[in-house]
Amino acid sequence: MIRIENVSKSFGSFKALDGLTLRAGEGTVLGLLGPNGSGKTTTVKILTTLLSPDSGDARVAGYSVVKEPGNVRRNLGLSGQYAAVDEKLTAFENLHMVGRLYGLSHRSASARAHELLLNFRLDDVAGKRAGTFSGGMRRRLDLAGAIVARPKVVVLDEPTTGLDPRGRLDTWDVVSRLVADGTTVLLTTQYLEEADRLADHIAVINHGSVIAEGTASELKQRAGTERIDVVLRNAGDLEAAAAVLSRAAGARAEEDPQNLRISVSAPGGHRLLVHVLSELDAQSLHVEEAALRRPTLDDVFLQLTGQGPAEGGDSAIDRISETAGVSA
Ligand SMILES: Nc1ncnc2c1ncn2[C@@H]1O[C@H](COP(=O)(O)OP(=O)(O)OP(=O)(O)O)[C@@H](O)[C@H]1O
Ligand SMILES: [Mg+2]
Repeated sequence: MIRIENVSKSFGSFKALDGLTLRAGEGTVLGLLGPNGSGKTTTVKILTTLLSPDSGDARVAGYSVVKEPGNVRRNLGLSGQYAAVDEKLTAFENLHMVGRLYGLSHRSASARAHELLLNFRLDDVAGKRAGTFSGGMRRRLDLAGAIVARPKVVVLDEPTTGLDPRGRLDTWDVVSRLVADGTTVLLTTQYLEEADRLADHIAVINHGSVIAEGTASELKQRAGTERIDVVLRNAGDLEAAAAVLSRAAGARAEEDPQNLRISVSAPGGHRLLVHVLSELDAQSLHVEEAALRRPTLDDVFLQLTGQGPAEGGDSAIDRISETAGVSA
């Protein structure tokens, strides 16, 4: 449903996209994950025909952005990085107008607007001018506008940046419902958790090309194994317990004295955890909490760089690609 084939785009001498290739099947979510300036919005603009590629092509629902931009636009809904709402119109009028622009009758446009206002928790302010809305409310209104005409493909550029936790959960819910209805979604994000939660397939991009790709769990697997985390009751037990974990796992356990936490990578999984707990018990080392967990995408970045992607920027992503064994 989405095919981006070897797309390059330069601004002057600066190469924003460098042979980018991406695909998303019908009814799936493709997550485009990358730091500031990696080319996410440029990709979105090319896919939505707002920019034309220097070379390569992209297809939406089978239509070429280069040769058939009109058909591409008819099959596509966009919510850009910066919410685009008409400030002079009310929330209802904004959505009604979009519906009319897409050719819905007055009645269907009204019904659709009301339905979406409800879904996006904007029904209370349906009659208020969008100019008076907070950033999060504008964002939700803009998002609703993108799906008024039930397009086959929806492109969301950082849909939850600037939303409060509730707004973020609402957006995730809307995206999940869209996909359940068969819509294909491309979403860009800087939040690993968001990509993890929503995307069937994640492409990590940097400097305008894909540097690592896979499902969330594949990316995590390539970056590390399961870990055992143990939190102790007594600070005095820290060293003895770390020795138990290190010996059991055959790897040096990391100690976090402040939180009385010990952590070790545990290729043996749950058996190793059982063994560790009985060893600790045998030595009367009291455990407050114990867990076996798979690395999160955040761990991936943290483990490699000591920084999240937002602060880590390019180097974090570069390091991931090395670990994941995907060539840039
Ligand atoms: N119209 C333009 N003219 C010149 N340079 C541009 C233009 N648009 C984008 N760029 C540059 O291309 C690079 C990629 O920009 P893009 O907006 O695609 O990044 P992004 O991944 O969306 O970043 P962010 O997370 O900050 O939104 C940046 O270095 C940016 O400065
Ligand atoms: Mg952007």
